Amino acid sequence: MSRCPFKPLLDFETFAQGTPRAYINELRAENRILWEADSHATGGHWLLFQQADIDFVLRSTDLFTNNFGPLLEDIPEDLLPEQQQALTFMDPPQHRKYRTLVEHAFRPRQMTAREPSMRAGAKDIIDTVIDRGECEFVAEVAIQLPMRVMFRLLGVRSADFQYVVDLTNTLSLADDPDFAENRTAGFVASMRLMDFGETLAADHRANPRDSMTTDVLNSELDGEKLTDREFGRFFNNLVTGGIETTRNTLAWAMVDFIDHPEQYRALQRDPSLVSGAVDEILRFRNPVAYLRRTAKQDLELAGEKIPKGGKVICVLGSPNRDPALFERPDEFDITRPAAATRRNYRTFGGGPHFCLGINQARMNLIVMLDEITRRLDNPRLLAPPKHARSFFMDGFKELRVGWDKR
Ligand code: HEM
Repeated sequence: MSRCPFKPLLDFETFAQGTPRAYINELRAENRILWEADSHATGGHWLLFQQADIDFVLRSTDLFTNNFGPLLEDIPEDLLPEQQQALTFMDPPQHRKYRTLVEHAFRPRQMTAREPSMRAGAKDIIDTVIDRGECEFVAEVAIQLPMRVMFRLLGVRSADFQYVVDLTNTLSLADDPDFAENRTAGFVASMRLMDFGETLAADHRANPRDSMTTDVLNSELDGEKLTDREFGRFFNNLVTGGIETTRNTLAWAMVDFIDHPEQYRALQRDPSLVSGAVDEILRFRNPVAYLRRTAKQDLELAGEKIPKGGKVICVLGSPNRDPALFERPDEFDITRPAAATRRNYRTFGGGPHFCLGINQARMNLIVMLDEITRRLDNPRLLAPPKHARSFFMDGFKELRVGWDKR
């Protein structure tokens, strides 16, 4: 392993224009594992670049815990105990029991049932902007479908949409001063989302309606129904997991198609390419830059000694651009064989916490890209995109796009 000084990876400057793909390629070519100093309690973390090592860490729940969360920064001690009772912070076997309560809502069969209303939603989103010939793509288009789908599923009232979106922005983009004063403000926003979910559960008990919230509240865990607070924690995981990620992927898709107009036109000519195009954009621009796991005991990993409590950072974009896994990995090519792309990218993580919403995410992106390519010609940037300041979530806070009506 190299300990030579190197330009920091997990740093706002390095991520100023999004995930630094070329730099990650360089680091992967020369290192299997790399110790990087940071300003947090343990003084640093280990970066992992190889697909096999990342898979090993994400799957080895006997050696690595999720109890301290997927972010590099530590959760403040007063907030940690509550976070540890949420799905994303749990370890097996408790994790599996909780996950079972919600995963059925995102199975392929549910996607088929949900597709017509998603297509109607996509049509409405484009109807709203199309005649103007331009829009701020992130807020007016990219976030809209994932937000509407998730909120409708959970029975959130439309009057509350903006409040919940603001909290998810604060949580996911806490390092950007436009969204939060600091990372702690982001963790606090996460608690507010749990509060909102708790109130939503109480509202559903008082005014039962047909939603996933009602289903989850009626199900049982070890013979007991979930409390409103337990539901609130699920709510937090579902909205933060489902909205920002998909919005950023669609925004990147727009930027990459504008960079590659011939591929946009190819998709317009042959809409059957859309599913492969979605997998390619997920490979090319994984929005979640890394996942943290924490060593449960002293151990050895890729030849390095990691002490108990050591932080290991799985750099998800690294396998996605690894020439050992993909031909011409730095080229955006929507005609790649989709099954191999899906098998080899690590955009959705791995192991027991593998993204619960992958089917929903892919379907949102397919439906939106279908609608966009069918109705908008010659998309173009009207201003340089503004990246969000984050080295965890790769996306934009402003993307001004123009088009001709098709
Ligand atoms: C492009 C879109 C998406 C990306 C890139 C993405 C990525 C990820 C990743 C990397 C993880 C693993 C977290 C970890 O191991 O700590 C994850 C987990 C999760 N995702 Fe997604 N996600 C997306 C969309 C969605 C959607 C639409 C939902 C809505 C249901 C969702 C819900 C979740 C949940 C609840 C978890 C936690 C699962 C667990 O801890 O067992 N995600 N996602």
